[in-house]
Amino acid sequence: MSESITARSYAKINWTLEVLYRRDDGYHELRTIFQTVSIYDVLKFQATSGPIEIVSNNDLVPCDESNLAYKAAAKLRESTGVEQGAVIEIDKRIPVAAGLGGGSSNAATTLLALARLWQMPASPQLLFEIAASLGSDVPFFLYGGTALGIGRGEEVYSIRDVEDASLLLVNPGFAVPTAGVYSKLKRLTSKESNRIIPFALLAANGICELTLAARNDLEEVVLAAHPELQQIKLRLIGLGARQALVSGSGATVFGVFDNLLATVEAARELGAAGLWCEPVRTIGRDEYQSTIFE
Ligand code: C5P
Repeated sequence: MSESITARSYAKINWTLEVLYRRDDGYHELRTIFQTVSIYDVLKFQATSGPIEIVSNNDLVPCDESNLAYKAAAKLRESTGVEQGAVIEIDKRIPVAAGLGGGSSNAATTLLALARLWQMPASPQLLFEIAASLGSDVPFFLYGGTALGIGRGEEVYSIRDVEDASLLLVNPGFAVPTAGVYSKLKRLTSKESNRIIPFALLAANGICELTLAARNDLEEVVLAAHPELQQIKLRLIGLGARQALVSGSGATVFGVFDNLLATVEAARELGAAGLWCEPVRTIGRDEYQSTIFE
């Protein structure tokens, strides 16, 4: 029997997401604070002597070369000259195209897992370069925890982990393609962004004061296209959330509650209304790195 590895591929939320300006390369310059949370896909990797293959229990996951985990595996193989292949089984639990970074996380987890499975010396620099070439959120998932993301989001700086055990993720069940959200942004801050950088760091340091710090510049566009998300935000606040914010480019909204009981009660209410709900807690960097391959 060939060797196999099972891995957790965690989701993220964005505590804050500031869009500064559109860059010459078409991407937007960001200041964001990423956070890994306790919902994860389960990925199983089997070493083979054949090609790279993706299988999934979820029809929304592409099983061809467009899958980010496939691309991660192919690029790793190409850049290291490894001749082995792999079957990658994706047990999808994170909603797809939901602002939770599921595809990006799968890609980063694939890089970490295959470097082990194929027993190759892949430097952190190489893994970072492949990750950054796959997508703006992918490098963050090589580290996890709470981190400041700058540039297009790919330049990641770990900061003090935020601990919060009373978060609720709510997803309305439709996908939101990220590129469309960025293309509809109108109100962009000026290129003279010096003012913004200290703000992001201040937010990072004072993140416990979420009602002050939480902010998402993509939210206006997402709410305009999907007014029902505003209703979800209002319902979360009505059920006791201190804060309710769209994560990334949506459509998932996260609510920040004062205690677990209120979180679970809100999940029951919103779940009864037909919404996908998942109470989660933050996953700090040490826990992230020590449980990926547990
Ligand atoms: O990097 P990623 O492939 O995840 O980005 C998806 C799309 O989102 C990009 O093609 C781009 O249109 C938009 N984007 C952006 N600025 C960023 C990140 C993403 O405009 N910082």
